Amino acid sequence: GKVAVIMGGHSNEREVSLMSGGGVLAALQSRGVDAHAFDPAAKPLAALRDEGFDRAFLILHGRGGEDGTIQGALEFLGLPYTGCGVMASAIAMDKWRTKLLWEAAGLPVPEYRIVENAAELRRAADELGLPLFVKPAHEGSSVGVVKLKSLDDCEAAWAEASKHDAIVLAERNIAGGEFTCAVLDGKALSTVRIIPATEFYDYEAKYIRDDTEYRCPAGLSDADEALARQLSEKAYRVLGASGWARIDFLTDTDGTIYLLEANTAPGMTSHSLFPMAAREAGLSYEDLVLKVLDTTL
Ligand code: DAL
Ligand code: MG
Repeated sequence: GKVAVIMGGHSNEREVSLMSGGGVLAALQSRGVDAHAFDPAAKPLAALRDEGFDRAFLILHGRGGEDGTIQGALEFLGLPYTGCGVMASAIAMDKWRTKLLWEAAGLPVPEYRIVENAAELRRAADELGLPLFVKPAHEGSSVGVVKLKSLDDCEAAWAEASKHDAIVLAERNIAGGEFTCAVLDGKALSTVRIIPATEFYDYEAKYIRDDTEYRCPAGLSDADEALARQLSEKAYRVLGASGWARIDFLTDTDGTIYLLEANTAPGMTSHSLFPMAAREAGLSYEDLVLKVLDTTL
């Protein structure tokens, strides 16, 4: 059948989605799938039916694409799609509700506060210490994330994060390492360690700079690797995820694991982490794309 690779959209991650989608489209076509790009910013989703598509590979990142809205529209159109359904997508797009759910399920998350103004952010910094991560609740690719290093910068950090979202989180710094765990159809792949040359793994380090270092396998002890995979699979299950998702996590200086967030339309750019983990498992980028497509069946 005819496959729509749904990419682009209106979010702050539009450019990333176009890069991911370009890779996915080329991979499907190289394996003989009748795949075509479809950008919901250019035409209404209802056109999918008129244009004869049978299913969709969803590779929209961010709000209005990764958050359950498009998933709901596709359900309504009766078109099978890759990845998480409405509920898991909606929860995972919201870092606050994700934490609430994971905490309730006994999963470890970094201590945080919801802050509503710069004064509350200053109080959170007093309680949780500096540096402190200030994040809009519904963004991806680190858009709007600030690493607050001085109390003098509370106003500026608040202004930046709140520009993107009505809900802003202040999250305790976890100073060990940054990692991610790709979960394919419920099963965790090898974790990946990310060693950014920047202060943290921000938008620049993710897509622009070429000096971010990646390790897969991550170099955790066997016990920690097993634990990280087990926590990631549970985090996926608790969200009600399906198809695929990538769980980002941190380790503290004593090795304790803290889960950060889930990405239900994981990046598939040339720099992205899910394809890296797949390669370690013997799956090429093209194999991975076909496997994900198969989860729509
Ligand atoms: N939000 C980006 C695309 C990722 O998590 O890979
Ligand atoms: Mg994310």
